[in-house]
Amino acid sequence: MFNHKILPLAGLAAAVAALPHGQKALQWKPCPELNEQIAELSAPFPITRFDCASLEVPLDYDHPGTSEMIQLDLFKVNATKGPVLGSVLFNPGGPGGTGAENLPLVSADLHLNIGGQFNLISWDPRGTGNTIPFNCGTGDTTSSGNVARRYEPSYHTVPSSNVTQNFLDVGWEQSRQRADTCYATNNKTGQFIGTSSVALDMVSIIDALGEDGLLRYYGWSYGSALGDYFAALFPERVDRMLLDGNVNPYTWQLGTRPELFEDVDKGFAAFIDECWKNREDCALVTALNAVSKSDIWETMDAFIAATAKNTTTVAGYNAYIAVLGVIEGRLYYPMQWPKLAQLLADMLTGKVEDSPRSSTGPTPKPYNHGPDAIDGIRCSDATFQVTDVEEYLPILAQQLNHSKGFGAFYNAVWPCASWKMSDKQQYRGDFKVKPRHPILMVNGEYDPTTPISGAYNASSAFEGSVVLAHNGYGHGIFPSPSKCVAEKIQRYFVHGDLPEEGIVCEPDFGPWELAQHYAANNISRPF
Ligand SMILES: *[C@@H]1O[C@H](CO)[C@@H](O)[C@H](O)[C@H]1NC(C)=O
Ligand SMILES: *[C@@H]1O[C@H](CO)[C@@H](O)[C@H](O)[C@H]1NC(C)=O
Ligand SMILES: *[C@@H]1O[C@H](CO)[C@@H](O)[C@H](O)[C@H]1NC(C)=O
Ligand SMILES: *[C@@H]1O[C@H](CO)[C@@H](O)[C@H](O)[C@H]1NC(C)=O
Ligand SMILES: *[C@@H]1O[C@H](CO)[C@@H](O)[C@H](O)[C@H]1NC(C)=O
Ligand SMILES: *[C@@H]1O[C@H](CO)[C@@H](O)[C@H](O)[C@H]1NC(C)=O
Ligand SMILES: *[C@@H]1O[C@H](CO)[C@@H](O)[C@H](O)[C@H]1NC(C)=O
Repeated sequence: MFNHKILPLAGLAAAVAALPHGQKALQWKPCPELNEQIAELSAPFPITRFDCASLEVPLDYDHPGTSEMIQLDLFKVNATKGPVLGSVLFNPGGPGGTGAENLPLVSADLHLNIGGQFNLISWDPRGTGNTIPFNCGTGDTTSSGNVARRYEPSYHTVPSSNVTQNFLDVGWEQSRQRADTCYATNNKTGQFIGTSSVALDMVSIIDALGEDGLLRYYGWSYGSALGDYFAALFPERVDRMLLDGNVNPYTWQLGTRPELFEDVDKGFAAFIDECWKNREDCALVTALNAVSKSDIWETMDAFIAATAKNTTTVAGYNAYIAVLGVIEGRLYYPMQWPKLAQLLADMLTGKVEDSPRSSTGPTPKPYNHGPDAIDGIRCSDATFQVTDVEEYLPILAQQLNHSKGFGAFYNAVWPCASWKMSDKQQYRGDFKVKPRHPILMVNGEYDPTTPISGAYNASSAFEGSVVLAHNGYGHGIFPSPSKCVAEKIQRYFVHGDLPEEGIVCEPDFGPWELAQHYAANNISRPF
């Protein structure tokens, strides 16, 4: 059961009780200039038009009456059909993704899956957009609050393909420096941007909506952690909660996530399978003159093994890590798999020598002012803090153990173990709670960054919840649309019905069919 003793929950409850419920009804207004800016940033992909509102909330929920106030920027995409049944809040993940950049891009996917009868509302969570933006001043211009553009922090330089060696040689020291730098630049607000603080903002938002004070929510990727925290803190406020692409709430809370790449080997094997299935049209088959699937595997394995021994660094990246990154990154979006085949073919035949991480094209003026919010948020949630490098080695061993081919790739959470700004509301409790209405988790079986074990793990904690498995590729359900998934999610949102546990939905299209499908239907989308 929910353990009240070990939480700052009494403080939280008091803080929420002290909020002026319902007095701050949101004023939605057109915001054409912001619509134009986001449209420009999203080009060539079209956006859905949205309205804007703002809401004042206390910076410090421990002192809601006397705290400095901050302004949350909110965004709304209208329901597409009536009768309108209320509003669904959306968090796009990251963490660090902004509502402004992501809601207008994915609202079509949300409507498709939820059924069109809800207004869709997102906001710029603390640390992102203009909401006390978290910026460590390290000049990283590649990151963005648009989660469809991958975040590639520049401090991840790795001299060796042996992740443990690298960690001992430089990784630990770099991570500590990162934590120090972020502290020196954000010590006034850094303890107010963690996931529990954001969950408190969600209570403020649903109160200000003037509906029934209950949460209807779609959390994508990290948005699942936000959902987990909200449900653990405010179970009686949950009306509908759909978590798509689930993190393991327990390793999220620790800040270690050693299981992160658990399903990448499976995803990569599926890529090779699909390439062979579509061999007339798969550049890898052509480039290698492959006459069987095992031809592709043999060449790939030899290439990866050789690269692992290659000590050359390209733009600070170890060649091996760069190759793993190219593959892992493309596994997010099956529509890009034909391109991944081309890229690997070029690499294997020596046509690409440079790190394929270099960005393409000019970047328009960014919207998001919190490029480091990904660390600012996840690290302020992290309860696993160490002072000695040796204490972290067991986590690394677990990480390597979870994936045969990709365990060495990930090192992004290391700074969290030395973080100096824990969220003032940091949730350290369990997730074994019974929400007012059960949660529905949906998860792909080949997800490169939120393995399906995370969904089962969360579901085993939240009483009554169900996992709907999606046998499509990519991160979350949007990259592999499925009528079966959409029908079940819609029934959940509209009627509250949960599917039976154990159902596996098939995607509507394979990776090689997606681009054709979208072209034939004049749909232009990022993934
Ligand atoms: C959303 O709906 C409201 C009221 O129905 C309308 O006033 C507003 O213009 C709509 N907003 C957009 C962006 O279509
Ligand atoms: C990687 O480095 C660690 C630490 O030096 C060492 O113990 C381990 O044997 C190395 N692994 C491989 C595969 O070389
Ligand atoms: C706290 O942040 C300010 C800048 O906001 C900086 O000048 C100061 O040095 C920081 N303090 C510490 C102890 O890092
Ligand atoms: C090592 O990697 C670099 C950069 O990708 C490449 O130019 C070089 O040919 C590789 N060397 C070997 C022996 O594969
Ligand atoms: C590695 O995984 C195996 C089973 O998959 C498990 O028995 C073992 O304890 C794991 N080792 C570490 C260091 O996590
Ligand atoms: C959930 O994951 C955590 C962290 O890996 C683990 O300790 C726990 O046993 C898992 N729970 C279940 C029911 O598998
Ligand atoms: C295709 O969609 C775009 C908007 O995304 C629209 O401007 C264009 O008219 C459409 N073309 C056709 C042939 O429907």
